[in-house]
Amino acid sequence: MKIGVLTGGGDCPGLNAVIRAVVRKSIQDGHSVIGLKNGWKGLLEKNYMNLTLDSVSGILHRGGTILGSSRTNVYKTEGGEKKAIASIKELELDALVAIGGEDTLGVAAKLHKAGVNVVGVPKTIDNDLNATDYTFGFDTAVNVATEAIDRIHTTAESHNRVGVVEVMGRHAGWIAIHSGMAGGADVILIPEKPFDIDEVCDILKKRHARGKTFSIVCVAEGAQPKDGTMVLSRLEKDSFGHVMLGGIGNVIAEEIEKRTGFETRATVLGHIQRGGSPTAYDRVLGTRFGVKAAELVFEGKFGMMAALKGDKIVAVSLDEAVGELKTVDDELYEVAKTFFG
Ligand code: F6P
Repeated sequence: MKIGVLTGGGDCPGLNAVIRAVVRKSIQDGHSVIGLKNGWKGLLEKNYMNLTLDSVSGILHRGGTILGSSRTNVYKTEGGEKKAIASIKELELDALVAIGGEDTLGVAAKLHKAGVNVVGVPKTIDNDLNATDYTFGFDTAVNVATEAIDRIHTTAESHNRVGVVEVMGRHAGWIAIHSGMAGGADVILIPEKPFDIDEVCDILKKRHARGKTFSIVCVAEGAQPKDGTMVLSRLEKDSFGHVMLGGIGNVIAEEIEKRTGFETRATVLGHIQRGGSPTAYDRVLGTRFGVKAAELVFEGKFGMMAALKGDKIVAVSLDEAVGELKTVDDELYEVAKTFFG
C-alpha cells in the first residue's frame, strides 16, 4: 500500500512520535509512506515528502511536526472535496492517516463518507476530543502550565501579589483544571463553569484575611463571566471558523486589583504550552496511536480512529470522536473546588 500521512490544526508535542510510528510500522510491513505537508493544504496542493526510515530518525523527542501544519479546511475551500479526491488518485494513495483534533478529524470523517480510505489519530493539547480518554499533547501542556504556575507562585509570594495565569484549552477547561490542581491554584476558572468576578474576589479576600499574602488564579482562555459576555482580545476567526481566544487573564487581573486592592499581575502562557519536547507519556501515547493507525489501515478499517480507553488502545469511529466536545466533568471540578481559597 502507499499511505499518506498529514498533521492538521494547531501543532502539539508528540506529533513526530506518531509520524515515526506510522512510518516504522508501515515500512516494517512492506508498505510505503509519504508525508503531506501542512495538513489538508498539502493534499490539495499535492505537496509532499517521501517518508523513509531515515526521515523519521531522531524525531521522537522533537516538538512540532516535521510535516508542518495548517488550519486549511477542505470543506471551506472551493471544490475542496473534489480536489482532495483527485490528489489522492494522482498521488496513487491507497489510504490516508490524518493526525489532528476535532476540525482535522471532522474533515477526515466527511472525506470517508465521500469514499476516501482514511483513519484518524486524536491530537490536541486541549484534550477535548470525545471517544478517547486522553489525546497526546495534553500531558505536555499540563506539565508546562504546572511548571509555570510553580514559578509564578514563588514570585507572587515574594511580592505579596495575586498571580493570574491564563492557559489554553479553547472551550474546555482540561488544561486549567489539571494544571491548576497540580499547581495548587487558589481559584480555577473554566469555560464549563461561568464565574462571578465578585465571588472570585471574595475567595481571595477571605484567603488574605486568614493571613495569606499572595494568591494564584488559573484561568482558562475560554472561561466566561456569568453574564455570558466572553472577553476576547481579537474577534477574528481562524479557517475552521473558531473565535481566536486569549486575553481574559489580563482583564481578570485588572478587575481583581480594582475590587480587592491586592496588587495583581497576569501571565498569558500561550503557545509555550504547545512548543517543545513531549513528555515521556505523550511520546509513548503518540507511538501507540501511530502503530494502531497503521494497523487499522492494513486491516482496511477506514473511518476509524485510534483511541485510548482505560489503558488500552482501541478503534472508535471518527463520527463518534468528532460528534461532541469532551468537557470537564463535575466530579473533577468539585474536587478542585475543595481547595479554592
Ligand atoms: O487547539 C489548540 C489551541 O492551542 C487552543 O488551545 C488555542 O485556543 C488555539 O489552538 C490557538 O490557535 P492558534 O495557534 O491558531 O493561535
